[in-house]
Amino acid sequence: MEQLVIASNNSGKIAEIRSMLSQLQLLSLQDIGYTHELAEPYHTFEENALAKAAAISAFSGKNVFSDDSGLCINAMNGAPGVDSAHYSGSRNDEQNLQKVLDGLTSQPDRSAYYKAVVCLIWEGETWFFEGICRGSIATEQQGDNGFGYDPIFMPDGYDQTFGELPLTVKNKISHRGQAIRKMVAFIEERMAIK
Ligand code: IMP
Repeated sequence: MEQLVIASNNSGKIAEIRSMLSQLQLLSLQDIGYTHELAEPYHTFEENALAKAAAISAFSGKNVFSDDSGLCINAMNGAPGVDSAHYSGSRNDEQNLQKVLDGLTSQPDRSAYYKAVVCLIWEGETWFFEGICRGSIATEQQGDNGFGYDPIFMPDGYDQTFGELPLTVKNKISHRGQAIRKMVAFIEERMAIK
C-alpha cells in the first residue's frame, strides 16, 4: 500500500483524516521519528501548509501532506483565521471558543466559515487543495464531538453543531473533508497513470 506522511501533531485532525484515507497507509510524525514542533509562522493558510509539508518532506524524503485550517468569522474580519489554534494566547480549545463567544456578544451577524488548505508534496511536486464549510456561531456550546470550535459551529443547512453531529456527517460536508477528497482523487489519478 502507498505510504503518505501527515505533517501534523493535532490528534483531532489526524483522527478525522485517518477515517477518510483507507486507501493509503497514513504515517504519523511519531511513525517517522519526527519529535519537534512544526512551525506555522505565516499569515496565510497556504504559506503555513507549505512550510509544514516542506519541513517534513525534507526530513523524511517521503510523500507528505499537511493541513492548515481555521475558523473565519465575518463580523470579526476573518479572525481567528490562521490564529485559530492559539486565539486566546494558549493552545486551549475551551479558552479559544470562549473568546469567540465573548467577541460576538450582541453581534447580530454570526456567520462564519471553516477553511482548510491541504498541501501535498507528491514525488517532489507541490500541490494545494482547498475546502470551505460555511455556517454560523451558536450562542453557547452544544455537544462535545470533534475538536477545536466544533461545539459552537453550526454548518448551514443543519440545526446542530459539529459538536453534536456524528463524524460521518462532519466529514461529508467539512472544509477538511472536501480538501482531503480532492487530494485523494488526485493521488488515485496519479497512481492509475503510473
Ligand atoms: P492548525 O491548522 O494546526 O494551525 O490549527 C487549526 C486550528 O483551527 C485548530 O486547532 C482549531 O482550533 C481550528 N480548526 C480547524 N479545523 C477545525 C475543525 O474541523 N473543527 C474545529 N476547529 C477546527
